[in-house]
Amino acid sequence: MLIQGRVRSDVTLTKLPILYRRFTGTKTRGRTVMETTASKLAVQNLRKSFRSQRSEGSIQVFEGISFEVHPSEFISLVGPSGCGKTTFLRILDGLIPHDDGEILLDGKTVIKPGPDKGFVFQDSSLLPWRTVMDNIILGLELQGVDKREARKKAERYIALVGLAGFEHHYPHELSGGMQQRVNLARALIVDPQVLLMDEPFASLDAQTREIMQAELLKMWNQTKKTVIFVTHQIEEAIYLSDRVVVFSARPARIREIVKVAIPRPRSLSVKRSKEFLDLADHVWGIIQEEVLKSMGREREEGVW
Ligand SMILES: Nc1ncnc2c1ncn2[C@@H]1O[C@H](COP(=O)(O)OP(=O)(O)OP(=O)(O)O)[C@@H](O)[C@H]1O
Ligand SMILES: [Mg+2]
Repeated sequence: MLIQGRVRSDVTLTKLPILYRRFTGTKTRGRTVMETTASKLAVQNLRKSFRSQRSEGSIQVFEGISFEVHPSEFISLVGPSGCGKTTFLRILDGLIPHDDGEILLDGKTVIKPGPDKGFVFQDSSLLPWRTVMDNIILGLELQGVDKREARKKAERYIALVGLAGFEHHYPHELSGGMQQRVNLARALIVDPQVLLMDEPFASLDAQTREIMQAELLKMWNQTKKTVIFVTHQIEEAIYLSDRVVVFSARPARIREIVKVAIPRPRSLSVKRSKEFLDLADHVWGIIQEEVLKSMGREREEGVW
């Protein structure tokens, strides 16, 4: 939780004295920011634009993005195509800069990529000349960990993602789902504080995708990582998450943060429950409005 000058609406006055005891002061860009140990990740008033390739101006991607993620929370991010979800994840990872605002991971400003953040991309992005084992230990090798020690550690993660027996296979010998499991193990082995996942199951067929969702929940349950998961599939977002952050059309703002109060562990059959379908309808309604808005804007701008 960030307190910058004013008290955020999610802090009730009665709770304040207790929270203040846990505050630590951090100096960020000349301002003193007070945060509690309660949030793993805090995003405050984030703004991003890109310089336009074709004109003098710039594309405003998002603005005023603020929310907090609790330790071990599973957050999904949904929104119309092009609203800035990937850009947002890349900024969280420290891969690209933002224009304004703050990102704090465990109270420290995020500046660059590092082992405290694991990134899982849509494509498996495995090195084709390395085996499953050698792809998984890549991050540890880059950290200077001894290869024998790295391989020993990798065995646990290979078992965790269900790939025991495939250690010496090459990426081309694996199915799409298996490749994404390798990707996941590769991100997890460096023991990141937060796992950033950008549509990791988008290229999988429907059945494999469902299996991977259930497997991901099992792994999350065992590792208790804090996860930010980007997806276009509303059912996937609800099934996996504690909360779903819904972005508006570009320039994106947060339209709503939807809490998913469905008890865990969740079986795949929960997707047919009324509670689940009502939530999906609700999120779908917001996205539909936003997609229509951006289509209208594009038509006005003569894009189509
Ligand atoms: N490097 C870049 N330079 C200029 N513009 C960019 C760059 N990266 C992204 N954009 C623009 O920023 C906007 C947001 O892109 P982004 O890829 O973050 O959207 P997204 O929500 O992930 O889309 P999708 O759902 O289709 O994956 C788009 O208009 C895109 O054209
Ligand atoms: Mg994207």
